[in-house]
Amino acid sequence: MSNYSIQQALAVGASALTDTSESPKLDAEVLLLDCISQSRTYLFTWPEKLLTDEQQAAFLSAIEKRKTGLPVAHITEYREFWSLNFKVSAATLIPRPDTETLVECALDKAINKQGSLLDLGTGTGAIALSLASELPLWQVIGCDFQQDAVALATQNQQNLAIANATIVQSDWFSALDAQLFDVIVSNPPYIDEQDPHLLEGDVRFEPLSALVAPKKGMADIEHIIETGRNYLQKKGWLFLEHGYDQGQLVRDFFAKMAYKDISTVKDLGGNDRVTLAQWDPD
Ligand SMILES: C[S@@+](CC[C@H](N)C(=O)[O-])C[C@H]1O[C@@H](n2cnc3c(N)ncnc32)[C@H](O)[C@@H]1O
Repeated sequence: MSNYSIQQALAVGASALTDTSESPKLDAEVLLLDCISQSRTYLFTWPEKLLTDEQQAAFLSAIEKRKTGLPVAHITEYREFWSLNFKVSAATLIPRPDTETLVECALDKAINKQGSLLDLGTGTGAIALSLASELPLWQVIGCDFQQDAVALATQNQQNLAIANATIVQSDWFSALDAQLFDVIVSNPPYIDEQDPHLLEGDVRFEPLSALVAPKKGMADIEHIIETGRNYLQKKGWLFLEHGYDQGQLVRDFFAKMAYKDISTVKDLGGNDRVTLAQWDPD
């Protein structure tokens, strides 16, 4: 029997994943592209093209892994974010499309040609490196307390050849020099430890240290808002990603800590996702 054509492989892969995945067709496409090292248009331009023995074996093995629930990004080891290709691993969160909302918001306020920006809990470096690539004259620091995440973000920085970013190991602000930033951003852990969604889908394969926080998910957010005041320039901005149902709590805590100009931005799904505020103590 000859090998599958691209079209057949996609159909076989998607059908094998219907019980495991909410997006079986897309997953099969991404896994096949990874095995044949081609761009997406190739799949639809050459549907009759036969896979080589090697490509077919790699694809079927990837489908088997996905059937166990392993995230697609952990199989391909890469995830695109802000049109950049980030290496991912089990050390931290797989970057999510919703987090691009945070990058967009920060770019809107980073209007000066030069400035300094801190990304707390940088993980793969997705936010820090995307912003550094858009703001080449800014100095960007990304920090994470997990050594493996720091190594991963550093590798991504090197792979993407981004010179204006530094990745450091730090438990939030604790290892940073006494420096004031124009912009601080963070997508911290914000899920409640009891949230049943932690038992479903990709999050089962991501470390709890990247996902959950005490106080119904608010502890790290509150720490960053409170301590951030000591690290922001006058009129500097703090941007926080949070859960769809945390907008009011985050706005209230910003107000309690005397920040100004507090607002929440929705993600593409129409949910509260990012709250920003300005530190202007006078
Ligand atoms: C939700 S993930 C976000 C990762 C990445 N910024 C992104 O948006 O894809 C949260 C990150 O915060 C890091 N983190 C958790 N607690 C931390 C702490 N105390 N200090 C620094 N980083 C921390 C985790 O290791 C994880 O990489």
